[in-house]
Order: sequence, then C-alpha cells, then structure tokens
Amino acid sequence: MRRAGQVVREVLELVRSKVKPGATTYDLEKAAEARLEKLRVKAAFKGYHGYPCVLCTSINSEVVHGIPSPKRVLKQGDIVSVDFGVVVDGYYGDAAITVPVGAIDNDAARLLKVTEASLQAGIAAVRPGATLGDVGAAVQGVVEGEGFSVVRDFVGHGIGAQMHEDPQVPNFGEAGRGMKLRPGMVIAIEPMVNAGKPDVMVLADGWTAVAKDGSMSAHFEHTVAVTPTGPRVLTE
Ligand code: MF3
Ligand code: CO
Repeated sequence: MRRAGQVVREVLELVRSKVKPGATTYDLEKAAEARLEKLRVKAAFKGYHGYPCVLCTSINSEVVHGIPSPKRVLKQGDIVSVDFGVVVDGYYGDAAITVPVGAIDNDAARLLKVTEASLQAGIAAVRPGATLGDVGAAVQGVVEGEGFSVVRDFVGHGIGAQMHEDPQVPNFGEAGRGMKLRPGMVIAIEPMVNAGKPDVMVLADGWTAVAKDGSMSAHFEHTVAVTPTGPRVLTE
C-alpha cells in the first residue's frame, strides 16, 4: 500500500505544479493521465460507479467529486481540491489536497490551513487502542475551533484491496466512542470543511457536491496505516 501511496503523492504533486490561473481542470486531468500511463499504474476512480475521470477537481464552493472539464478555467483567487487514487498490485492509495490558484484572500488561506491542520490532528490521534471517535473528535475540534464546519454527508473509509472498505471514518465524533483501531488497519482520513454551513447538495451531473450556502470548501486526505507505535502516512 505504500507503493500505491507513493504514486498518489507523485501525481498529486505534479498536478499541484500545473495549478495556475488560465489552466483548466481538464489540463490537470490530462497531466495526471499521462503520468499514470508512463508509470503503467491504474487509476482508482475512473469507472468507479461510472465516474468518468482519474481526478476529482472541485473548485471553490464545490466540496468533492467535481468532474474535470475543458470549460472549467481556474482563475486567480480560486481554490481547487484535487482528489486522486490508484491501485498497485491490487492495493489502493487515496489522497486529496486543496491548492490555491495564484494569490488567494485571507479567508480562503485560513480555510486551507485549518483543513490541513484538522487532517494532521486526526492522524495524530491514530494509534492502537484509540477509537474512530477519537479521530473524528480531533478533526472536528480543530475545524469548529476556527469557526468552520465539518461536512457530515461524506466520510473517510477503510482502504486496502478495495478503495472503500469498512469502517466509515467520520470527521466528527466523540472521543472514546466507536471502533477501536488495531495494528494493520489502514484508513483514509479526509476532512471536507466548509467556511459556512455544513450542508451540501449534489448538482444535476449526479456527482459534484457543493456547499448549499455557496461558501468555500476545502478537502485534504491521507491514507494512514495503524502501526504498533502509531500512524504511518502512506500517501506522504
Ligand atoms: N476519493 C474519494 C474518496 O476519498 C472517492 C472518489 S469517488 C469517485 O473516497 F467516484 F470519484 F471515484
Ligand atoms: Co477517500
């Protein structure tokens, strides 16, 4: 799974380098596809329940599952969330980053910082004997402490020989509640954070989830293994 995670990281960093005003989300998709072809690695999302692309690219108030398109031109001040997964020798890796397009305003910058910090807090809660409630509470505490909201309608997940396995990994919860983590488990922790209210709705394309109040939304994700001594981030 570390090998899958390394490919995910390599492609996400490539995509990050292509994010600039004037680029389209389809340019990002093509760059990711070309690198996958060179590495001879299979994308995890394309074909998953009919999803048409290797990347999900979600701009501004889009929360997750935005579909790359040559019509979607990035402009200065936007933020774009890029979610990506692969399968290597039967095992999955899955991660997401939110990237600023040129210079962004202070509120957007704080949203990115807090969302990434909430993911790090969730990861820091991972150890044998900790619970999924500990992880969710750690994420939620950082997000709500900054006045932002945790999206409830989408959650993280177990990951391994399938992209989505049990258990669900909510980005909210109560410390001490829920399944206990054990060495060898691997989970994808993926806070989706809205600057405004937590409510989301799915657009008519059947995929794109957006913040109902139109507020900006950020998403960071890592695939994280539970080891005897604590977390190991497979997608770093
Ligand atoms: N990457 C998403 C997740 O983190 C799943 C993408 S759904 C797909 O669970 F349909 F786009 F593949
Ligand atoms: Co995921």
